[in-house]
Amino acid sequence: MTAQPKPDLVTVNIDGKEIAVPKGTNVIEAARLVSVDVPHFCYHPKLTVVGNCRMCLIEMGMPAVDPATKAPIMDPATGKQKINWIPRPQIGCGTNVSPGLHVRTTTQMVKDAREGVMEFLLINHPLDCPICDQAGECMLQEQATGYGRGYSRFIEQKNVKPKRTQLGPRVMLDDERCILCSRCIRFSKEVAKDDVLGFIDRGSYSTLTCYPGKELKNNYSLNTVDICPVGALTSTDFRFKMRVWFLKQTNSIDPESSVGANTVVWSREGVIYRITPRRNDAVNDTWMTDSGRALYKHVQSPDRLTAVKVNGADSTLDTAINAAAEIFVPMAGQPPLPSSVPAAAPSRNSSSPGNSPPRSRPPPISSAGWGRATSSCSPPTAIRMSAAPSSPA
Ligand code: SF4
Ligand code: FES
Repeated sequence: MTAQPKPDLVTVNIDGKEIAVPKGTNVIEAARLVSVDVPHFCYHPKLTVVGNCRMCLIEMGMPAVDPATKAPIMDPATGKQKINWIPRPQIGCGTNVSPGLHVRTTTQMVKDAREGVMEFLLINHPLDCPICDQAGECMLQEQATGYGRGYSRFIEQKNVKPKRTQLGPRVMLDDERCILCSRCIRFSKEVAKDDVLGFIDRGSYSTLTCYPGKELKNNYSLNTVDICPVGALTSTDFRFKMRVWFLKQTNSIDPESSVGANTVVWSREGVIYRITPRRNDAVNDTWMTDSGRALYKHVQSPDRLTAVKVNGADSTLDTAINAAAEIFVPMAGQPPLPSSVPAAAPSRNSSSPGNSPPRSRPPPISSAGWGRATSSCSPPTAIRMSAAPSSPA
């Protein structure tokens, strides 16, 4: 195995904290490393940077040098190199670190900029948080609380835009909530390679829509719901089913995915309500398929076997496993075992024992460690998390 080359590091200063970060890191990610939050909407670490929401505004400066000699210009008050601060705020998502970069995120200029952006974003956004399906996981709500003005000066009529537009079989759009961040458009184009979404009209009439004759129906369409920072895109399957704060999150793996996409299973009182992707950059980034998300329906399917039966009669798991062995051992070319399970189905191959030498009967298979055998539906994690079955050998 060859050693990975170390990335080039550059030292930057964020809110007075020095940190060395890999070259090419943007200010949002660099700040995250020193636990400084730079609020943002349109930026997503797995999509291209467009810089259209302006929420990530920061103050930025570079160490001052003499233009002629390139010698550092010192600040006599501090004894340190002077910093030339840019007089206007800059976007953190579109600014990559460079040696000596200084960033300030807590100044009055940054605070005013964030409040201004939040005020514009909320002008036409409906204030229906109590009935919005995104409540509890809405970036707009969180950032309005953390960085907004706290009150509205808007007394005009809000824009009215289309409600409940079906963009595809699994995704619904409430257009008046859209803040035009374009995350969903970029995801469809760059990741799903299914360029079906775009904006039409201008200014405050801009509207997200599918191109004529197209639908958002690829097998990755629900990732747009995950990355929509507001409640504009919702899953037709999950919307208005359950408040997210009631749900328990259990880390799991998508059994349908050949790479083992990392997932989170959202459940309440043993009932699964949705499955979403869990970030793992080495496996599935932050994405997963729509078909993998729908697997939870099989767990609660009315035709799922939830009780142990042998020949249609209620039984125990041990008895059922031994009954199954009675069938499968002769099918594998072995002579039939002397049956000790009266309720077991007769072996379909019992009349053709084959030429294999007789062998001794293995001990009964125990169900210990297989999880609960109940008459009610239990999440798949109940089985996955339990120990492996004891060996029949
Ligand atoms: S629907 Fe959501 S993700 Fe798409 S542009 Fe609007 S706010 Fe952004
Ligand atoms: S995150 Fe939207 S402009 Fe930077």
